[in-house]
Amino acid sequence: MERKLIAAGNWKMNMDYNEGRDLAQAVASGLQPSDVLVIMGTPYVHLKNISGIIKDISNIKLAAQNCHQEENGAYTGEISAAMLKSCGVDFVILGHSERREYFGEADELIAKKIDIVLKYGMQPIYCCGEKLEVREAGKHEELVGEQVKTALYHLTKEQMQRVVIAYEPVWAIGTGKTATPQQAQDMHEYIRSLIRKKFGQEVADATTILYGGSVKPDNAQELFSQPDVDGGLVGGASLKAKDFLAIASSF
Ligand code: 13P
Repeated sequence: MERKLIAAGNWKMNMDYNEGRDLAQAVASGLQPSDVLVIMGTPYVHLKNISGIIKDISNIKLAAQNCHQEENGAYTGEISAAMLKSCGVDFVILGHSERREYFGEADELIAKKIDIVLKYGMQPIYCCGEKLEVREAGKHEELVGEQVKTALYHLTKEQMQRVVIAYEPVWAIGTGKTATPQQAQDMHEYIRSLIRKKFGQEVADATTILYGGSVKPDNAQELFSQPDVDGGLVGGASLKAKDFLAIASSF
């Protein structure tokens, strides 16, 4: 595994079936061949259809936005890793701050979800990040450090090589308030140092660390040019093909 440049979209709970199909088709037809991997993180109901739309395009992959931690069984309304895999999913966004905030997910649970996603041959996109009050108290590294250790430190080196990390400061999500490139770089460098301590230099160098939080076409280039920022996890701007494609060409 090597470090990849990634532009990942997280549609969140947006786009009905037809809108999602149109957006995926527009992204697929507008994407230029490049080394950048484009990932579309769509609601579950789109996955199978969109996997058909992108199947011949090697640099677009599909992500789900969550996954249940158990194999199968009586969990009404939930979706398993096996189901995702069978619909053509390659990546699964896990631990997003909205799942932490509205669905009570914590890193102990997220660790289990990471395990099952890896078990089924998919790659987790593990989200971490601090709230505003934590940043203002100067405790952001401490908090993100705890998140990363609890969710990832139990993995083997081989498993860690398949994890993508997304640093998403909660205060920058959907607020139009982006972290400065320096703030992003500092945290990404810190996260990489944590990966280095536990898994070694080679794994740390190969780990893709994305920044998320109000990434837009006009700020993507500056963020992505930071040495430890390997791309973005994009919410709002991934819902417009033109903006998302512009972000994907900002490396
Ligand atoms: P916005 O790009 O809308 O701020 O969302 C970021 C995000 O949460 C991606 O997962």
